[in-house]
Amino acid sequence: MTWWYVVRASGLVAYAMLTATVIGGLLLSTRVLHRSPPPAWLFDWHRFVGGLAAVGTGLHVAAVWVDDYIDFHVLDLLVPFVSPWRPAALALGIVGFYLLLVIELTSLARRRMPLRWWRRVHYLSLPALVASTVHALMAGEDSDEPAVLLAVGVGTGIAVALATLWFIQLGSG
Ligand code: HEM
Repeated sequence: MTWWYVVRASGLVAYAMLTATVIGGLLLSTRVLHRSPPPAWLFDWHRFVGGLAAVGTGLHVAAVWVDDYIDFHVLDLLVPFVSPWRPAALALGIVGFYLLLVIELTSLARRRMPLRWWRRVHYLSLPALVASTVHALMAGEDSDEPAVLLAVGVGTGIAVALATLWFIQLGSG
């Protein structure tokens, strides 16, 4: 049972860090803050929080596997629709997990790959956030808590608003 609390706590922390890093990345690319805080500081913060999201997700998946409240096998957690337990919710979590893994690994290898390719992969952070949001709302025991719903709503709202601004900028530039 203790591990089930680790599953829930790490899931919520990973999700909060993911939302925060996506918002940080969009603040960097839209430049709406006009150099305050300095872009280098924001970049470091974005990388650090993104790292925490990746570590938190790793802990979340490991805790789901270790926990015996529901008997998951490794393939249940790595291949969508293998497990009969809330298959759509799990599939979205698995997709979010793979997207985050690719984004984190390519960011670590950023200097060793063409910038264009790195950027294209980095755009996957928006689908990763969408997949994780729906996963959390469908799979989570805490998703009907008002505080969780408010935090998800506010975080996702800011991310969507900034993403819209960013696409408008991309279209006009
Ligand atoms: C292989 C990938 C994943 C698996 C197998 C998985 C599995 C699970 C399971 C079984 C639950 C239900 C826990 C409960 O009953 O409360 C859950 C909830 C949750 N997951 Fe995941 N997950 C995965 C990926 C992710 C990712 C990428 C994120 C976000 C970064 C995430 C965030 C959450 C959150 C926020 C909850 C809700 C916690 C709660 O409300 O108690 N998960 N996940």
